[in-house]
Amino acid sequence: MKRRHALALAALPAAACLPLPSQAAASERAQRLARQLDRGINFGNMVDSPKEGDWGLRLEQRYIELVGEGGFTQAVRLPVRWSNHASLDAEARIDPVFFARIDATVDALLARGCTVLLDMHHYRQLDGDALDPGELAVDEPLVLPRFFAMWRQIAERYADRDERLLFEPYNEPHGRLEPLWNEVFAQVLQLIRHSNPERVVVVGPTLWNNATHLARLRLPPDPNLIVTIHCYEPFDFTHQGAAWVEPRKPLGVSCCSKKQQLEMEQHLELAQAFVKASGYPVLIGEFGAYSKAPAPARTRYLRFMREAMESRGLPWMYWELASGFGVYDPKAGRFRPEVFEPLYGGRTDKTRR
Ligand code: BGC
Repeated sequence: MKRRHALALAALPAAACLPLPSQAAASERAQRLARQLDRGINFGNMVDSPKEGDWGLRLEQRYIELVGEGGFTQAVRLPVRWSNHASLDAEARIDPVFFARIDATVDALLARGCTVLLDMHHYRQLDGDALDPGELAVDEPLVLPRFFAMWRQIAERYADRDERLLFEPYNEPHGRLEPLWNEVFAQVLQLIRHSNPERVVVVGPTLWNNATHLARLRLPPDPNLIVTIHCYEPFDFTHQGAAWVEPRKPLGVSCCSKKQQLEMEQHLELAQAFVKASGYPVLIGEFGAYSKAPAPARTRYLRFMREAMESRGLPWMYWELASGFGVYDPKAGRFRPEVFEPLYGGRTDKTRR
């Protein structure tokens, strides 16, 4: 049996246990950039795989060229598995070739006028998860110091980029990271602020960025923050047939009954209440339905979600471009109408903004 280790707070640098003061409202810049992320897309399964190409996709120029074309989005979330491209010691030196590849993508997107959310994805040991095939293990005491060391490098590297580049320190914190997340985020934010005093940073709650954990999220007193949640309800529908979910969800589940609609709306209402109470914008950073869901039900789900998010003023980014949830068919070289239309077709709420 695999031994599970607890992440030790002692592994954090000295200032880790910051007091967690009361919340302040978001700046105009954070509000504006949250709106710019709206109707965005996740470039998923490209460089969040252990090595680019392992999950069937690469960061290709043709994907970058889709951005801003034909009614498609001007906002990209770029999930990156930094940890598997960094030295295994505490310094976690990021491979210069990999760094240059990310630079080129970020800069090409910014040059197209895009708003870019750069994250850290799937540092499996941070959550205490099993490693993926092809993922390198690091010594337990080095797991957290490496997280901070990577963010120091990323933050310094991109410190001079346009404000349209945003950072998201960690995707979907869960597992053994949960009890530490508020402290770990406060610490990484402090570190990012040394080189990027005003860059907008995105943070989500524990339980894989679940809205039901918003109440546990403690925001440091920083106006340049956006809060994010991920919405995959109803999970039996959105993840039917997904090989990475155990036990595997059976196929043939439809959408959207009244009960399912309520489940979707409950999470969005938690987000809306958080916006009102805190003064910070909430981004739906991921939502989507896997391609094995029945096609008409998938289109209904997407239409329902879009309307439900937009009517509540919640910006959203679809998971994802060209893989199993994909809005774009990379083999045929065209958008999939049953996904594109409900998401990026004519606006449903013309009164908004
Ligand atoms: C994960 C992906 C997964 C998706 C849907 C994302 O947060 O990073 O690997 O495909 O959620 O389950």
